[in-house]
Amino acid sequence: MAEGNEDYPQGSSREGDEPYRADKCLVSSSQAISSSSCTGDGRSTPGGEGEQREQDTASCSLLGNLKQCHKKLGQLTFSRTHTVLINVPIFNASKQLLPEEGRNMWHSSFVKMPFSPASVVTIKTGLKKPTQVCRWEIIIKNLDSLASKKEIGVEDVEKVIIKCNPQYKDEWMFDALYSFVKCIPKEENYFHTLFPKMAALALSLPLHVKKAIPLLQTGHSAAITLSQVQISCLLANAFFCTFPHRNTSRPNAEYHNYPTINFNRLFGNWSERKKEKLRAIMHYFNVVTDENTKPQGLVTFERRCLRESELPSWRSCEETLSRLHVTSKGSIEANSAGLLQVDFASCLIGGGVLGSGLVQEEILFLMNPELIVSRLFTERLADNECLIVTGSQQFSQYTGFGGSFEWMGPHEDNLERDEWGRLQRHILAIDALHFKHTKEQYSMLKVTRELNKAFCGFKGYGDDEPDIATGKWGCGVYNGDPQLKAVIQLMAAAKARRGLAFFTFDDEELANGLQQIYHLLVKEGITVGKLYRLLEDYCAVQQALGVSHENLLDFIRDNIRCSRSQL
Ligand code: APR
Repeated sequence: MAEGNEDYPQGSSREGDEPYRADKCLVSSSQAISSSSCTGDGRSTPGGEGEQREQDTASCSLLGNLKQCHKKLGQLTFSRTHTVLINVPIFNASKQLLPEEGRNMWHSSFVKMPFSPASVVTIKTGLKKPTQVCRWEIIIKNLDSLASKKEIGVEDVEKVIIKCNPQYKDEWMFDALYSFVKCIPKEENYFHTLFPKMAALALSLPLHVKKAIPLLQTGHSAAITLSQVQISCLLANAFFCTFPHRNTSRPNAEYHNYPTINFNRLFGNWSERKKEKLRAIMHYFNVVTDENTKPQGLVTFERRCLRESELPSWRSCEETLSRLHVTSKGSIEANSAGLLQVDFASCLIGGGVLGSGLVQEEILFLMNPELIVSRLFTERLADNECLIVTGSQQFSQYTGFGGSFEWMGPHEDNLERDEWGRLQRHILAIDALHFKHTKEQYSMLKVTRELNKAFCGFKGYGDDEPDIATGKWGCGVYNGDPQLKAVIQLMAAAKARRGLAFFTFDDEELANGLQQIYHLLVKEGITVGKLYRLLEDYCAVQQALGVSHENLLDFIRDNIRCSRSQL
């Protein structure tokens, strides 16, 4: 992963800047040059064209002018809609992380835990009457056999996983896990001693997680706060595929509306991608099974569901645009510590992270593997919902994207922790619509859905919320129009009164176009409502003419100039 590049030292914030006003250029003329060069190669040509470009983009902010998160939290608290899995009074008194007591719930609103007495398997032996055995007994016996050994091989891991899931003996493949352990160079090949420690970690689940974990169900705003140690126990169980009822996503299956959580698909279908994914995952387990490096913080997973009454009437919004920083350099996660970082999500959170997917969301989840545990309890996101994760740790670095993705070793996460012991990393998962054909998106029904989805994530609940770091959300796998999605996110951020840092991920043309249209919109005081009506006209033209005869930014500019000339 690219470290914070020279233009924007990571985590730099220039507190004390003059109060922010969108219609006021936030940067002095000298900074204007650096902001206009913030998308170029860092040089700015004085005079002539450079000067014109500078004028055309002067409204843009520097990244350091965007607002970072400094929320004052006070003591850790729980409520009817916020479940905390550690003992809150002890944490508030001593910062000690002890599991909250509680009883196991084998219930449709809670995670069905591997150690639940209700999780049974029927054993048929010969002519004897089939007997029911507690599945956790089988898991203990098998994982204990692994944990007690100094070194074990993939064949031992495969045997235990199949013993715990005998019905998948002929279906699940482990070729990728075998090839992975075989191909990794000796000096990095610590897996034979790591597997036993992972087995021990998985077995410790009942000691660390005693309170039932509620499911974050569709249509309900709720949150779960748990420790990084509890997360590591849950993920060690996911690695050994011990979670019951989670291995089939048939339409009528109990958890068909949830992402998968057991890691079985990660172990089959060998490829270079699988190799790099397993390197990231195994590095995570290597860190969390080591007494000296295992993390000691908390993480909060919050599902937000926007009520009908909270949805804006976009056509009549009077807000003008909020501050914007645009750059083609860097990436969301490498250059925006302290901002709310957008995860270009799937409605089944985490997408293909446990399969072969390897674009923005899967990479984010591999660099911050604690995010994977959200798949255990987060039901499919509806159009008016999002998930916000506060406190996940970044364990690895990477380079590339998709097929060129490569794990690049450990990452030292030096972010500060808040009063609840959570790293100051804020991730917002919002799922864009997936357009089979580009033309589908030019309909106000679809545009409004995307506006509401972005607003659901961007809407703050207090005035000390951080600004937002985003990019070409929905414009890769989901085939969205980058200019349309950028305008949509600008409108949602304006309505939420929060600034935006937009990373175009090497797309210079988009960066320049965005800077220039933003400057024009700010100069002309164009409201969100006016932009919405312009999008209505644009979609009508797109539908009528069938092809994108003019891109959106040109269409907006021409319309503004034309209405200005009529004044
Ligand atoms: N920072 C900024 N921009 C990025 C980053 C990053 N770290 N990574 C990728 N991008 C840009 C790339 O230009 C990419 O083409 O964002 C674009 C969109 O990324 P996608 O991941 O394809 O996002 P989307 O089109 O929303 O597809 C989402 O893909 O990863 C799965 O689970 C996810 O199913 C979901 C789907």
